[in-house]
This record gives sequence, C-alpha cells and structure tokens, in this order.
Amino acid sequence: MIQFKINGRDVSLDADPQTPLLWAIRDEIGLTGTKFGCGIGMCGACTVHVGGRATRSCITPISDVAGTEITTIEGLDTDSNHPVQEAWRNLRVPQCGYCQSGQIMQAVALLQDIPNPSDQDIDAVMTGNLCRCMTYPRIRQAVRDAATAMNGAQDNG
Ligand code: FES
Ligand code: FES
Repeated sequence: MIQFKINGRDVSLDADPQTPLLWAIRDEIGLTGTKFGCGIGMCGACTVHVGGRATRSCITPISDVAGTEITTIEGLDTDSNHPVQEAWRNLRVPQCGYCQSGQIMQAVALLQDIPNPSDQDIDAVMTGNLCRCMTYPRIRQAVRDAATAMNGAQDNG
C-alpha cells in the first residue's frame, strides 16, 4: 500500500510501486486535469507538484512519492483564484488548452523559486513545457503579470 496526500486529501493505493504517478492521478484518483503528452518526461503536460517541486508525473513511479504531498491543477487554489490562473485567464493564454495545466503548475513552481523572474529566467524554466499551439508569448507575459500581482514586482525582463 502506497500512501500520500493529494490536494490535501489522504490517498492509499494498492498498486504496483512502479505505476507512473500520472496513471494513479488520472485513473485511480480520478483527477483528469493533469494531461498525458509524451509519457517520457519531454513535454511537461503531466507536471504536478511533489513536495512543492514541479515534477513530471509520467516518469515518476508512485513508490517515489510515498509520504509526500502532491498538488495538481485541481488543488492549486480551492477557489480557482490563484494569481497565476488569474493572469492566464486575463490574457486568454490557452488555445487548445491541452498543455496548460502543466504550464501553470510549472509557472507556479517558477514563481516560488524566483519571485521576480526576468524573461531569461522564464524561458529557462518554461522551456521544457511544450505547446503545440505556440502560446509561448502569452505564457511569458502571464508569468510576468502573475509575478507583478504576487509581489508588486516591476518588469525586469
Ligand atoms: S507526458 Fe510527462 S513530460 Fe510529457
Ligand atoms: S494550448 Fe494547445 S498545446 Fe498548448
């Protein structure tokens, strides 16, 4: 039995320890906001937070997350009012939307680590999150807007 917390809720899974966390999140726990893209850690669509760190859930076995706290897009803010989500909404960042929960989870982790990122910081961290709809310019602007909202920071990119 593997136990962890997800979005504040205790979960116990009786599953193969090598089961990818993404499978557990979507199929066992039923949270489908986290997406399957490449399955090999190369696109970022499956990004969640494990212990506050952005993590590719498709290549993370559930044995690695025993005893940790996981946050998915559904748990980012219980009233869906996280400043990053707010910035995404204001700029209408998504096109098809498929990559966007991963983008947002990566962006939140970025702003935890670097509260006032430059464009170079944003590009360096967000580069592993692919978007086939090429929403990159809006993603970058949304990260900057979220940083400003969260910290009263000035653009420095
Ligand atoms: S689905 Fe996990 S990185 Fe692409
Ligand atoms: S919005 Fe379509 S893949 Fe990113």
